[in-house]
Amino acid sequence: MNKALNRFYDVLVSIYIYNEYTGYTELDKLLSAIKVKYPDEKEFIATVEKHTNDERKHYRMFRDYFEKAGKTPFFVDATYGYIDLFIKLVFKKPIEDLDREEIINNDKQFFKLCRLIMMTEFRGMKQVDKLLKNVLIRKNNSLFKIFKIIERDEPTHCYPYQNWLKKRNSHMPGFEEKFTDLWIHYSILLIKFPILFFNFRLARMNKFYD
Ligand SMILES: [Fe+2]
Ligand SMILES: [Fe+2]
Repeated sequence: MNKALNRFYDVLVSIYIYNEYTGYTELDKLLSAIKVKYPDEKEFIATVEKHTNDERKHYRMFRDYFEKAGKTPFFVDATYGYIDLFIKLVFKKPIEDLDREEIINNDKQFFKLCRLIMMTEFRGMKQVDKLLKNVLIRKNNSLFKIFKIIERDEPTHCYPYQNWLKKRNSHMPGFEEKFTDLWIHYSILLIKFPILFFNFRLARMNKFYD
């Protein structure tokens, strides 16, 4: 039983660590593009900066969790990345081919990206809420503490993008975007998570990201 439980924690943290890592590295790139295009939008820049720093901190917490246990994460690829999947489905290209300059110079595209980040954060909030109520997470003190910190940080993350859209009278997420969000969420939870959990040949990374 303990072995299965530990595997559950390790798979969960491996998915989280991949997502936090992708989150802060992608936000970092976006932030540089925002600073070039909108140098006077100080408040927007500051809030996106805070968001980036928070995601980096989340990554560090999960990394510490593994380091303390003397482990590295399981190898998790872009098919488990919430933002990777969202970008692929909405922008029809992999995240590494995303042209941030092109996006930021096109209002329609940038609004789309803002909605996408916003929805990712809403999903993150709901997910943390569920995990904090989960008996298995409540049993694991160090993970519970990490998710408590994330719960505190998360609500501020969607505001910069939400405000940006509101100020410019752009619409909020539409049906297609909402459907995409649900599809990604449930396919990870119900299909992909069990696949990782039961894949006993799943290797661990030999080092951490970056
Ligand atoms: Fe995060
Ligand atoms: Fe977040």
